Amino acid sequence: MKIKDLKVVYDAQAIAARVAEMGQEINRLYAGEDVVVVCVLKGAFMFFADLVRHLDMRPELDFVRVASYGASTATCGTVSFTKDVEVPLQGKHVLLVEDIVDTGHTVDFLFRQLAARGAKSLRLAALVDKQERRAVPVRVDFAGFALPGGFIVGYGLDYAERYRELPGIYEAVIEPEGA
Ligand code: IMP
Ligand code: MG
Repeated sequence: MKIKDLKVVYDAQAIAARVAEMGQEINRLYAGEDVVVVCVLKGAFMFFADLVRHLDMRPELDFVRVASYGASTATCGTVSFTKDVEVPLQGKHVLLVEDIVDTGHTVDFLFRQLAARGAKSLRLAALVDKQERRAVPVRVDFAGFALPGGFIVGYGLDYAERYRELPGIYEAVIEPEGA
């Protein structure tokens, strides 16, 4: 696919306001607890960086990276770690921070893996929840925005590693085949 045009879906201001609200919700839930906040690279890097600046429970921060196999714009069932967490999760609350939950395969894999590490609880904050696209059930504890579908880029989200640097989120208008 080729991107022909970008249409603003959420501008930087709308994202900042929503991320601040999510930070307050998360603070209320975890007040006084030991929390490890885990960023799912690469897509969540910008959301994670903004979100953690609102957190007041002095969390430990860590990063994971997963690879999924299948079509370039949708995840199939095969997901594996290319970078695991480094912080021990035993007895701690774990908050996974993901960019988008689409089919749910990525988060389903991460939940299964991290659940086996003895965490006290496991929750998910996702910037965008594409609920209607779900193939496996996933509970999103903190959702930034809900979208029915479409392909979006910006604010960490890429198409072929480009557009991640954009401060807003844009819907990619795709060039029709053969155009
Ligand atoms: P899932 O495993 O199908 O839930 O896919 C989740 C992953 O697919 C996300 O972490 C994104 O990296 C990627 N993804 C899904 N939809 C989009 C999109 O609209 N733009 C960019 N990446 C996307
Ligand atoms: Mg991703």
